[in-house]
Amino acid sequence: MNTNLSFTAPSQLETDCLVTVVLDQGDKDKPAPAVACADAPVPEAAKDVIANGEVTGKIFETTLLHRPAGLKAKRLLLLGGGKAKSFTAAELRMLAGAAVRTLKGKSIRSFAIALPNNTINAAEGVGAIVEGVFVGDFDPDYYKSDRKDQKIDSVTIVTHGDQTALERALNTGRIVGESQNFTRDLVNEPSNRMTPTMMAERAKKMAVEVGLKCEVYGADKIKELKMGAFWGVAQGSDEPPALIVLRYEPTGAAEKPHLGLVGKGITFDTGGISIKPADGMEKMKYDMAGGATMIGVMRAIALLKPKVKVTAIVCATENMPSGKAQKPGDVQIAMSGKSIEIINTDAEGRLVLADGLCYARQLGCTHIVDAATLTGAVVVALGYVNAGIFASDDQMYDRFAQANRQAGEKMWRLPLDDEYKEIIKSNIADIVNSGGRWGGAISAAMFLKEFAEDTPWIHLDIAGTAWMEDAKPWIAKGPSGIAVRSLIEFVKGWSA
Ligand code: BES
Ligand code: MN
Ligand code: ZN
Repeated sequence: MNTNLSFTAPSQLETDCLVTVVLDQGDKDKPAPAVACADAPVPEAAKDVIANGEVTGKIFETTLLHRPAGLKAKRLLLLGGGKAKSFTAAELRMLAGAAVRTLKGKSIRSFAIALPNNTINAAEGVGAIVEGVFVGDFDPDYYKSDRKDQKIDSVTIVTHGDQTALERALNTGRIVGESQNFTRDLVNEPSNRMTPTMMAERAKKMAVEVGLKCEVYGADKIKELKMGAFWGVAQGSDEPPALIVLRYEPTGAAEKPHLGLVGKGITFDTGGISIKPADGMEKMKYDMAGGATMIGVMRAIALLKPKVKVTAIVCATENMPSGKAQKPGDVQIAMSGKSIEIINTDAEGRLVLADGLCYARQLGCTHIVDAATLTGAVVVALGYVNAGIFASDDQMYDRFAQANRQAGEKMWRLPLDDEYKEIIKSNIADIVNSGGRWGGAISAAMFLKEFAEDTPWIHLDIAGTAWMEDAKPWIAKGPSGIAVRSLIEFVKGWSA
């Protein structure tokens, strides 16, 4: 998809469709929809449909006018943006995605969108629109033989202001949007087409394209590093595991801070010997979403070039039952030396991450973020709306929360009080890998904290948010790419 800027008046632009936002300027009981475009012919063309009550400005409402009077565009799409008072870049991002999804179904391949004239800063608005159109353009129907492949070829953003700054925002938005889709592409693949080896190959290919260092290690290195927790999961599978390390070391960046991004890369989670029920098990192909997130983030970082050292570690393996699989009651010794009693082989994500976190510390990371589809319990707590955030350090949390707001992704902090440590005590070893039913997302995070030790650390539980259960106006059903944008923004925030 091509994205470009135009500084022409929206009414004078020749395009298959001009998209303009309608905001409700009124209050609760008195709606007052108005076209958010200062170029007079545009609101004029929408005057009648607003006056007769057809257009209300309700969020995601779409009204398509043909041959709009006074405009050079062939069509005018009026896109409801909700209340003007609460309209932010986050809404604009979703609206841009909704425009793509509305128009691509109507055989329109190219359109223009006018930056709404409200309080959003022009550069921020351009960035949000570009990110949104890429998110909206993704569809997961890769293996349909009659795949329609209704992609948008080109989007023009009609705006005004400092061209250099806006071009920069456009390019950044494009890198972010494409990287989010890179992650979604990996997550969308079924487990027979995204084995740990294939995931590593994709990471390597990407690394060559963008100029990152990439190392991939197999079982020998995992054993040599004494990653007993990671290997405990991997030992049950015939597919070889992969420890994927991506390094971004910009010239001139200080040795510290050194950010570590650790991702759960379970390419299929059967549960192992503690096997999952058949119903819904097919979804466990997306259990590598945390790892895919980190690979997508590294792609963006390599292209955006912030001045800060970043290392990503993805622990990729299947979780399978077999004659070689670990069993409940087994004790594994993690890389850090801690012993773990395996209560439930389905609590495998925390095992691979335990060694991933320890390795990040060994490589010198001073601040670590992990992302994982870790627990069903986080879905019980937060549903499909918010991802769970856990943070061992308030300062690091504040930085992350700011990046998260900027990125417009929904996440919510959950606690890590010492009292929860009780749940993961073992009779035979240092800790158990499963704390049972209550506070399940928290006990999983407490387990990880044992391996982050005193390094400031954030854990993102994306089990409920990495896969869209239903389509939304701005995004298809399927892999969401959650956390990619927040993490890119977070890393950029450390740039010297
Ligand atoms: N991959 C699952 C968590 C998950 C659940 C991801 C739903 C996406 C959607 C994880 O490995 C798992 O099985 N967790 C168990 C832990 C339990 C055995 C302590 C769970 O949440 O049931
Ligand atoms: Mn599991
Ligand atoms: Zn899992």
